[in-house]
Amino acid sequence: MKSSEKRAVLTFSDATPGITLPIYQGSVGPEVIDIRSLYGKTGMFTYDPGFLSTASCQSAITYIDGDRGKLLYRGYPIEQLAAQCDYLEACYLLLYGELPDRDQKQEFVGLIANHTMVNEQMHLMLRGFRRDAHPMAVLTSMAGALAAFYHDSTDINNPKHREIAAIRLIAKMPTLVAMAYKHSVSQSCPYPNNALSYSGNFMRMMFATPCEDYEPSDVLVRALDRIFILHADHEQNTSTSTVRLCGSSGTNPFAAIGAGIACLWGPAHGGANEACLGMLQDIHAAGGVARIGEFVARVKDENSGVKLMGFGHRVYKNYDPRARLMRETCHEVLGHLGVDRDPLLQLAMALEKVTLEDEYFVSRKLYPNVDFYSGIVLRAIGIPVSLFTAIFALSRTVGWIAQLNEMMADPDYRIGRPRQLFTGTVLR
Ligand code: CMC
Repeated sequence: MKSSEKRAVLTFSDATPGITLPIYQGSVGPEVIDIRSLYGKTGMFTYDPGFLSTASCQSAITYIDGDRGKLLYRGYPIEQLAAQCDYLEACYLLLYGELPDRDQKQEFVGLIANHTMVNEQMHLMLRGFRRDAHPMAVLTSMAGALAAFYHDSTDINNPKHREIAAIRLIAKMPTLVAMAYKHSVSQSCPYPNNALSYSGNFMRMMFATPCEDYEPSDVLVRALDRIFILHADHEQNTSTSTVRLCGSSGTNPFAAIGAGIACLWGPAHGGANEACLGMLQDIHAAGGVARIGEFVARVKDENSGVKLMGFGHRVYKNYDPRARLMRETCHEVLGHLGVDRDPLLQLAMALEKVTLEDEYFVSRKLYPNVDFYSGIVLRAIGIPVSLFTAIFALSRTVGWIAQLNEMMADPDYRIGRPRQLFTGTVLR
């Protein structure tokens, strides 16, 4: 980060002396005012619930231009990565800063494949869960539990430990998600097959049974791989900030990722894909396209508490580029499966059209986000709705780890410890 010649001057309406604060420039995007000395100089904190105006760190991984609807991983537009890379190449890029050459890719793929199995004891742990447990409950626990199995990779201050933890987490997440699913349908989970691609192996673990193998179709594998790429990182989102904050205490990487998974579960964040499909199904059951007007009126009624799931974003004030790619994939997958007249897709497109022309959504710059179409694709692939957020967690694991690693290497990194404006009772 570069210091700007410009300075921020903060003055007060009473006798408190004003102060001058440095301003930094990133390589692109808004400048930041460095307020670290504020409390020391004035005895005041800043107040910014929800971090509306606060950059919590410097980062060189992912850049979002929310006004123009652009997303870059390490400088590469998401559209290029979605079209020309597979998920493991995107992982390599996020972790190490460059796309792999052929040898690097081969080595990385081999390394990941070496770690796809989980310790047998994890299967015993899985059996302790109720069959109707939400997969995110199972996944949160199982990811955290990895710390109990890999004592050689729990020192977050050791870059070697972090690296092997990263490889283990990326490699084992598909296995853990498939295990959570198979447990919920009372089936044994096939062991990973390292001859398959990352996404192909995941689909096989999901859909093969001991009496019938599953050969994933290329179109569906490619679609799932694209979903993984589109969700791989998204700068300082809620779960990533959670992982950073959790890791800032010096806890182990598995625990920090477990915290990220727990955070992602919420419907305002990763849980939106499940909530969005539920919403589309409800509108469909109530009469479909003919009921859109009524539903939109409820969304616009501020007293209803109803939100249009899969719409709106803190950073995007334009069409989410991931939603555009997802819509494309949606058509491709449904076309491939011969269900391109899928009523939920028709409904989603009609809903999108209505909202893009409606003053409420236009004035608030509310556009479809990545979750609006991803649920339709996942459902078409055969992924059960309750597993949608777990798929998101699987994909985002690499982003969480890349961000955690970046934080640990940042000389400005301190334990994350926000302050407060106390409004409670004073001494009594
Ligand atoms: N439906 C209806 N109104 C909305 C929506 C929506 N989905 N999102 C925002 N608004 C309204 C909101 O009521 C407010 O209106 P007003 O100014 O009259 O009070 C205005 O738009 C600004 O919204 P906000 O709540 O201040 O925005 P935020 O940045 O705090 O929240 C959000 C962002 C993503 C939590 C929110 O848009 C939302 O809840 N969307 C639905 C859930 C969703 O799809 N989440 C996935 C986000 S993308 C994937 C991810 O990051 O996990």
